[in-house]
Amino acid sequence: MTQRIEIAPSILAADFSCLGEEIRTVERGGAAMLHVDVMDGHFVPNISIGVPVVTSLRKATRLPLDVHLMIENPELYIQAFAEAGASMISIHEEATPHLDRALSMIREYGCQAGAVINPATPVAALSEVFGKVDLVLVMSVNPGFGGQKFIPGALGKIRELKRIRESYNYSFRIEVDGGVVQDNVADLVRAGAEILVAGTSIFHTPDAAEAVRAMKETADGALTQKV
Ligand code: DX5
Ligand code: ZN
Repeated sequence: MTQRIEIAPSILAADFSCLGEEIRTVERGGAAMLHVDVMDGHFVPNISIGVPVVTSLRKATRLPLDVHLMIENPELYIQAFAEAGASMISIHEEATPHLDRALSMIREYGCQAGAVINPATPVAALSEVFGKVDLVLVMSVNPGFGGQKFIPGALGKIRELKRIRESYNYSFRIEVDGGVVQDNVADLVRAGAEILVAGTSIFHTPDAAEAVRAMKETADGALTQKV
């Protein structure tokens, strides 16, 4: 499977008072999708945004919407997010005892299905669902907040996922989320990451379009340097 890099700006770090403008800026920089962080104040100790924002985003951009559900009982909300216009819906392995059923639901509603693992969760926790996911999202921070420091253990998990995918011919893409900055992009790409989620390092800069462009350039560079 050829590795193709996509940058997914996380709108959690954007200025919500002018979200439309923020989106146009990252579109201009070459963002491949928008990462939308949904938090319920239970699964993670923070509250962010919900279905109405996805509905508005769907009207404001043609970019795929990568919806990351950091919520308990994600099954209850899959239909609503799918109907609001999500392209991909990712749910945490830790958030439901019925991961298999929830992933099937996501596909039944016409979205790509993603499974997410927290820093303390091993890759092996997903071994029974590798065949039914379009994405595996490795958290490289403990979810709940933007602007945290990258946890290096994520690199080993990304390598492991890549190895598993090759050995068993799975087709999921590998995504990483949390503390992704210019300085660790090359290592992440060499490990096997394909979708790079970045909030702070894109929106909290003077020029978010340039930040996306520079991150993609660094990532593509690391790809070609690979042996
Ligand atoms: C963390 C979220 C991330 C967050 C990343 O709970 O899932 O998507 O927005 O933000 P940065 O890039 O600032 O670590
Ligand atoms: Zn996220």
